Amino acid sequence: MSAPVEFLLSLTRTLAIMSLYGETHPRRQGAVEHSFERLTTLLGENSRPQFSFLMDEVVYGKRAMRELQEWEWSRRLADAGIQRLEIDVGVTLEEYADFLEQAGDLVSGAPSRTTAMRPNVATRIRFGAVGLQGEVRESGEGKSIATATLSYALDEEVDAVRWIHQEMGEAGTLALLEAEAVVRSLSVAMHGANRVVIPLLRLKEFDQYTTTHSINVGVLSMALAETLGFGARDVRAFGTAGLLHDIGKVRVPRDILIKPGKLSPEERAVLDQHPVDGARIILESDEQLGVASAVAYEHHIMIDGGGYPVMRYRRDCHFASRLVHVCDVFDALCTDRPYRAAWEISRALAYIGERSGIEFDPSTARAFSAMMKRFELQVGPVPASEAAPVATS
Ligand SMILES: [Fe+2]
Ligand SMILES: [Fe+2]
Repeated sequence: MSAPVEFLLSLTRTLAIMSLYGETHPRRQGAVEHSFERLTTLLGENSRPQFSFLMDEVVYGKRAMRELQEWEWSRRLADAGIQRLEIDVGVTLEEYADFLEQAGDLVSGAPSRTTAMRPNVATRIRFGAVGLQGEVRESGEGKSIATATLSYALDEEVDAVRWIHQEMGEAGTLALLEAEAVVRSLSVAMHGANRVVIPLLRLKEFDQYTTTHSINVGVLSMALAETLGFGARDVRAFGTAGLLHDIGKVRVPRDILIKPGKLSPEERAVLDQHPVDGARIILESDEQLGVASAVAYEHHIMIDGGGYPVMRYRRDCHFASRLVHVCDVFDALCTDRPYRAAWEISRALAYIGERSGIEFDPSTARAFSAMMKRFELQVGPVPASEAAPVATS
């Protein structure tokens, strides 16, 4: 078992024992000392461990601790207002015992005694609520920590999406189960905290564009569908559709995808084939994914009938396509590209507003802007990769 897991288990075992035995009971003292030893071991590895307790999982540093998923204590600590715990090396047994007293009071719902006696004491253990970026939320008796933005690395999801694209390009098979697993996992990341967050990835390297963009469009599509009141099953279907909307780009040659300048008409025609190819790939893989294939086909079609593929008969696009279209353009605009810098969110939203009724469905565009203004963005780093680069949205 890893040191952070051993420490957390010893911490919560101690809280359980403290609720059963009186303050002077030897079992209580023994548990505190044992847990402090686990903490000392952890501090030997990491001089400032940081834990976030969300409703269904624990995040250690920036990494979700999969081994503690659905651990009941995560929810109990979060409910008690301990959503974040940071400990500095050099902490003493006395400080730790003090923290355990306060945590025990919070978990049992009793009024905190120690904090009231020692307000504003600089301590090497800080805990409190997870708030918005830069915000300081009060917790307990005037005790607070500056809450850092929860930053999900989403490393495993990024690896999975990169693999899905590679597998499609090389073996010609669409790994649908993996795509759906990624969507479920993104949904957990969105609902990890007490409130819904939108964990958008920031592009670090141009050659990660496909992966980063696919995940972001999946996340934004799910968030928007949820905002609009769709049920969980539909929200996941929209997430899968967002994740796979550009899958047809696996058929576009790499030199076209990475070309920094303007494409020639011939190159443009090849790139513009990706919606048709994407829809075919998805339909050939699974007939159940009608929505995803419609979205792959229609995500570059504008509300006024413009865009591509050119429709021979004017008809309305699927609602999911109109939804993914807005999310797709937004993420593309807010990403650094070889030929232009990323736009500010406000500028991208203004663009979407201006093009409402021409390119975008007005009510979808309005709902998207309202959502983005309401939510705090959660941005996580993307690790280096060799994923195929892409030049356009
Ligand atoms: Fe596209
Ligand atoms: Fe796209």
